[in-house]
Amino acid sequence: MKRLLTAILAATTLTVAMAAPVEPDREYNYEPTPEVLQSRRDFSADRFGIFIHWGIYSIFGQGEWYLNYGPNAQEYAKAARGFYPADFDAAEWVDAIKDSGARYITITSRHHDGFSMFHTAQSDYNIVDGTPFRRDILKELADECHKKNLSLHLYYSHLDWTRPDYPQGRTGHTTGRDSTVNDWDKYYRFMNAQLTELLTNYGPIRAVWFDGWWDHDEDKTPFDWHLRDQYAMIHRLQPSCMVANNHHQTPYPGEDIQIFERDLPGENTAGLSGQEISPLPLETCNTMNGMWGYKVVDTNYKDTPTLIRYLVKAAGMGANLLLNIGPQPNGELPAAALDRLREMGKWMRVYGETIYGTEAGPFEAQDWGTSTRKGNKLYVHVTGAQNPDILLPAPLKVKKAVRFADRTPVRYSRSKEGVTLHLGTVPDDIDHVIELELK
Ligand code: GLC
Repeated sequence: MKRLLTAILAATTLTVAMAAPVEPDREYNYEPTPEVLQSRRDFSADRFGIFIHWGIYSIFGQGEWYLNYGPNAQEYAKAARGFYPADFDAAEWVDAIKDSGARYITITSRHHDGFSMFHTAQSDYNIVDGTPFRRDILKELADECHKKNLSLHLYYSHLDWTRPDYPQGRTGHTTGRDSTVNDWDKYYRFMNAQLTELLTNYGPIRAVWFDGWWDHDEDKTPFDWHLRDQYAMIHRLQPSCMVANNHHQTPYPGEDIQIFERDLPGENTAGLSGQEISPLPLETCNTMNGMWGYKVVDTNYKDTPTLIRYLVKAAGMGANLLLNIGPQPNGELPAAALDRLREMGKWMRVYGETIYGTEAGPFEAQDWGTSTRKGNKLYVHVTGAQNPDILLPAPLKVKKAVRFADRTPVRYSRSKEGVTLHLGTVPDDIDHVIELELK
């Protein structure tokens, strides 16, 4: 069984690796504006964001890909008239997310099912014109984010399983959409008109987070998404807005963040990542349970220590963690997610200083944990030690070593392998942080 799984994984990885390069525009010289450069720095300093996958798919309770697995798009669309998230309260979301220590939200403005979670003039298939709820949830959330100083990023799907003008790719073949109508120019205009609305009507947006490029990664002839002009339009509309694309490739010119899906930079356990790491700010997105959109049977949430250690490990690599929540159809965040936000917040209030505004540590993650760095401080995060002596494999010049939590001194010694911390006992806390002052 294990061998079969490995073979399947290897095959998937191969497919991803062999995907034809479909974007011809690798070569142009993208000069980020000073405002974008500032956004990149602010973004990197944040280290922790919350991803929100919310759409009418939450009604079916089977995740955001439900439409791809059988329903006819016209039947599916009827869910919009039944979408009335009576308990939605943007202030409650923002308070809970802020309390977790997260510093930004990335929310799905329009996912692959084509339903817009904002008021758009480009199609009636949207939260205001298409549902009895008639409230622009994105506007409410954006206002609340701006009021409470949480940065806002918008997920936007390049692909669409419902619109006939979208040139069909490798997914969404059973939705009953007429794939002969295919009209790229019209679809491109539609997307750009929507992006213009998003970047005009909702205040400062710190990033647009694209997804779906990979829908054409198996085309025989190159599929040109015309990213260059679209990216330029975004940078023109809001000069501080960054562009990110979850294409599972190394970044293209015009992009400001490198995304990794379900894996930390350089790792590839899920078969989507393993791309070369670029000098751009890095972000790993991952789920709290197993699904992005609300899935009623998926109660398999990772526990808080696991989530905190994942965030710490990401920070040790110089990457942000974008941790996902799939809100329920009634508009609330699931209780299991709220618990975790609360517990992460408690931890971040004590240890945030060792995460926010830090850079990657001077050595790779070790079996016992990792490290982050800020100026002449090195924070050693002991998250899985097997013995009380911790080897930091780097020629560090240590001036002082204390436990971060209670400032008690930590003994250390130097050898040709590096510096060893002598903790006395094997720590069993979520993350035993030692602060080193370096010379
Ligand atoms: C994938 C999925 C999508 C999800 C995204 C989040 O690309 O298609 O459903 O939104 O990953 O990273």
